[in-house]
Amino acid sequence: HTLEMELEAIEKGGYEHFMLKEIFEQPRSIADSMRGRLKADEAHLQLGGLRNYLDKLASANRIVVVACGTSWHAGLVAEYLFEELARINVEVEYASEFRYRNPVINENDLVIAISQSGETADTLAAIELAKSKGATIFGICNVVGSSIARATHAGAYTHAGPEIGVASTKAFTAQVTVLTLMAIAVAWRRGTLSEELYRQLLIELETIPSKVERVLAKAAPIREIASIFTYSRNFIYLGRGLNFPVALEGALKLKEISYIHAEGYPAAEMKHGPIALIDEDMPVVFLATKDNSYDKIVSNIMEVKARKGRVIAIVTEGDALIPGMVDFVIEIPNTHDVLTPLLSVIPLQLLSYYIAVLRGRNVDQPRNLAKSVTVE
Ligand code: G6P
Repeated sequence: HTLEMELEAIEKGGYEHFMLKEIFEQPRSIADSMRGRLKADEAHLQLGGLRNYLDKLASANRIVVVACGTSWHAGLVAEYLFEELARINVEVEYASEFRYRNPVINENDLVIAISQSGETADTLAAIELAKSKGATIFGICNVVGSSIARATHAGAYTHAGPEIGVASTKAFTAQVTVLTLMAIAVAWRRGTLSEELYRQLLIELETIPSKVERVLAKAAPIREIASIFTYSRNFIYLGRGLNFPVALEGALKLKEISYIHAEGYPAAEMKHGPIALIDEDMPVVFLATKDNSYDKIVSNIMEVKARKGRVIAIVTEGDALIPGMVDFVIEIPNTHDVLTPLLSVIPLQLLSYYIAVLRGRNVDQPRNLAKSVTVE
């Protein structure tokens, strides 16, 4: 035993891997990302770093998000949130594509750059490009004082604490939390949110950490499901609306640490290609929570079952229909539609974690990947 190994064991806090520790930290990290910003009983919501820019955000016609990897998925969640709550048009760009195009961007534009590390080279270059064209840049970073945090005009830290596992987990839910707070604050300022819904969302947000706790309590049954699918060669993840970015994120987690080919799709796109892949060997993970696309998802599940696909469904507690249609269900607590990703992503993190462990993979340091990509 070297001192280094002992130190690492202490840092892992009794967990076998940093990734598992970070998954289990989420009730706290989500609460930390709301701390001092949200007080539901006083209907108080304020992001200090954005105070001087809230009017500018509220009067924006368009927001451009730049990010990479998991942070880009958080950007897709933000697109739905700002559109739904604040009625602002959002474009979500891969930073690597944006920086090498000739993007139409000027001093009226607002750019939100999302980065856990704050050091991703493509995201930093995208920021510099947008800045040179006069745009105002907000940063959503986890690492305090990072290059991206310093390059932006204003921003909000995610306060998730250090993330060591290469596959991002608690940083993602913290990004989504901060983006949700931002979308609600902007919507409220803009007048697109009723007082009733505003208060309701703030109250519901405060319940999220304890609801995440309830999802984490399902780790053992999720491990069981992982043991059944350990040697599957492909996976499809399907979701609609806010659960579509979650499907992408679930597929990315599986690719990153298990090296299993996985694709995420909007469920309705299935008929334009992926359905040709469905047979008895194809596991399909459905994000099938009780929201406004529930009925549509139910018919998508029937289409997969008719072709003998094996379905794992993430459903809302108490769902009486889907458990009778599919092979496996994982229940998550009910919440407001717009907050669903904070809960529905958790079982997908655990599923990929346990599959990777059962396959004997190096979970915290997957081959070919780096925690922060500071070169092109
Ligand atoms: C790398 C990491 C991913 C991360 C992406 C963006 O690929 O392995 O986990 O999502 O970079 O990183 P950032 O630090 O900018 O969020």
